[in-house]
Amino acid sequence: MTAPEARRAAAIYNSAVATWAIAAAWEVGALDELRGDGKLDARAFAERNGLDLVATIGMFRALASVNIVERQDTTVITSGNFDEVYRYRSFFHWLSRGSGELFRQMPSVLAGAGNYQRDAAAVAFACREIDRLCYAPMFWSVMERLDYDFDVVADLGCGSGGRLVDILARYPGARGIGVDIAPEAIELARRESTAAGMGDRVTFIEADVLNLDDHSLFRDVGLITCFMMGHDFWPRDKCVATLRRLRALFPAARRLLLGDATRTSGVADTDLPVFTLGFELGHDLMGVYLPTIAEWEPVFEESGWTLVGTNRIDMTVGEVIFELR
Ligand SMILES: C[S@@+](CC[C@H](N)C(=O)[O-])C[C@H]1O[C@@H](n2cnc3c(N)ncnc32)[C@H](O)[C@@H]1O
Repeated sequence: MTAPEARRAAAIYNSAVATWAIAAAWEVGALDELRGDGKLDARAFAERNGLDLVATIGMFRALASVNIVERQDTTVITSGNFDEVYRYRSFFHWLSRGSGELFRQMPSVLAGAGNYQRDAAAVAFACREIDRLCYAPMFWSVMERLDYDFDVVADLGCGSGGRLVDILARYPGARGIGVDIAPEAIELARRESTAAGMGDRVTFIEADVLNLDDHSLFRDVGLITCFMMGHDFWPRDKCVATLRRLRALFPAARRLLLGDATRTSGVADTDLPVFTLGFELGHDLMGVYLPTIAEWEPVFEESGWTLVGTNRIDMTVGEVIFELR
């Protein structure tokens, strides 16, 4: 028998281990297989995917410890927490695979040091799914309301390139430009767009959006999108300057759709929903300021953009899509 206090400590510990197992189980295809069939055999799964059997069983055991699956020897069956965890799998992945090194270095980062490197490809991979879960429904309703046609769309901080691929699929005559600072993200985006048969309609540029040089390709861009990186424009002065510069660099752009998380407030520490804590602490550790919606709005007017709409999503981290003209 374990004392209740020790049981509670074990639950905290096991959920930390399970976070890594969730991200891994998603990447190796186990979550999707379980989602489809409701069960799998760990031995057959490991063999099919070239995985070590003992370690694979250990991964399912970690999932079972927090009631995501039940495990009888090598038989794995979905359990009470499976559906919610599957829905939010990208948040677990963002935390462990994308940002693990940052949290591992927390003691030195707290002291203003720390030499961490987040995994840009893993962050881009997780964000593709975060987008589908969170931003995409609102994004497409904003797109449907656009009252003009565009030939070229530019996505700033394009990550996996998923947004461009999705836009080009819906607008067969359009071409795309993706800009990202991380070579790993650009590489992933090139691979994904080629796999989707869009390789010849999209150009990826490795560059810093905050110090973007003029490029002849930018002249015809009619629509700019920028998702989950707007907070990197801050602090305020830098943000105003960057938004102003985008107007000059993309003279034909009639809309900028800026989707991002914003700082939440007023939620008790013990009531925080999935993702909020990891996202906000992660950015605090990185020294990245997360503005509130109220801080964002006046900045647009000051930088020469007109705010047409503030489309609130508010899933977990105050997500919003600003529609700027
Ligand atoms: C959270 S991810 C979002 C990716 C993508 N926009 C999406 O919606 O899935 C942020 C991306 O912005 C890129 N990024 C961050 N700062 C940047 C900068 N200053 N210039 C260009 N890209 C940047 C990162 O490399 C990363 O791929």
